[in-house]
Amino acid sequence: MKKEYLMVLALAAAVAGGSALAADRDASLYVGVKSCKMCHKKPENGEQFAKWEASPHAKAFEVLASPEAKEAAKKLGIDDPQKSGKCLSCHATAYNWTETIQNAEIPVEEGVSCEACHGPGKNYKKRETMKSKELAKAAGLLDAKQSCVLCHNAKSPTWKADRYTLKDGSKAGFDFEQAYAKIKHPVPAK
Ligand code: HEC
Ligand code: HEC
Ligand code: HEC
Ligand code: HEC
Repeated sequence: MKKEYLMVLALAAAVAGGSALAADRDASLYVGVKSCKMCHKKPENGEQFAKWEASPHAKAFEVLASPEAKEAAKKLGIDDPQKSGKCLSCHATAYNWTETIQNAEIPVEEGVSCEACHGPGKNYKKRETMKSKELAKAAGLLDAKQSCVLCHNAKSPTWKADRYTLKDGSKAGFDFEQAYAKIKHPVPAK
């Protein structure tokens, strides 16, 4: 518990200072959700694509057209959140945490897709590579758990510091365990 807390602090500090995790990514290696869907859509393998599509992350671009988004943007002097790098930096994989598009081959409309958490996929998406954790890691597959706080942090203009209630009753803006439970997409045990 304490160790996890320290890790979150370290990651938050990394975010504040321009995160190594995000900055280390080569955005030209993003291939887009369609390339993952090919192999990750079957129910017997956990239908990761359908689970992602039903999750808020798939609507991260769409949500920028909502009245709440416009309200939040207005306070920052932003006219159209769907066109602003200040919003798309965290709401679209294609922006890769910057204020300009970093990979025009993948659509902004796909929002926060697989690779925002798992890392750019061009080098690890081959079947032979994917089947081996070691090979996949060496080819750029990241520890997805560490990606969350690059976006789920107080820099988000709609951040609610009391969104989650922890076991001890205290509040937090993000809690990995509870948040992941809402979006999990495991490969079923064989
Ligand atoms: C050619 C087919 C193929 C493509 C394309 C593919 N995968 Fe995979 N992936 C697999 C297979 C096979 C496994 C092994 C697990 C399984 O049997 O489902 C796997 C495993 C994984 C794992 C679990 C790795 C581990 O062991 O921890 C992740 C995460 C993953 N893929 C993400 C992605 C993402 C993101 C993309 C798109 C950038 C992608 N995959 C594209 C076939 C593919
Ligand atoms: C630092 C990353 C980040 C930036 C920058 C960002 N967002 Fe978000 N946004 C998030 C995250 C993460 C969520 C999910 C809710 C949460 O945990 O805060 C979210 C959720 C939302 C929601 C859904 C409401 C909610 O609270 O769940 C709206 C609307 C929104 N953002 C609008 C915007 C607008 C407008 C901008 C630009 C002015 C923007 N966001 C910039 C990370 C960001
Ligand atoms: C919001 C972040 C996020 C997104 C988006 C996301 N994943 Fe994941 N994914 C995770 C996390 C976290 C895990 C659990 C990893 C762990 O336990 O180390 C995971 C696990 C997996 C696994 C392995 C499951 C297992 O049981 O070993 C596969 C396969 C996978 N994801 C594929 C995908 C694919 C394909 C997409 C897009 C269609 C996707 N993920 C989108 C965060 C994400
Ligand atoms: C690239 C930025 C980004 C990353 C990385 C990211 N998220 Fe999100 N997340 C968002 C945005 C943006 C929204 C709001 C989307 C919407 O409202 O449609 C969101 C919404 C959510 C929500 C719904 C709001 C809530 O808190 O109940 C959950 C749950 C969530 N994310 C979990 C995770 C988890 C778990 C991880 C890491 C494994 C993660 N996210 C990684 C940007 C991100």
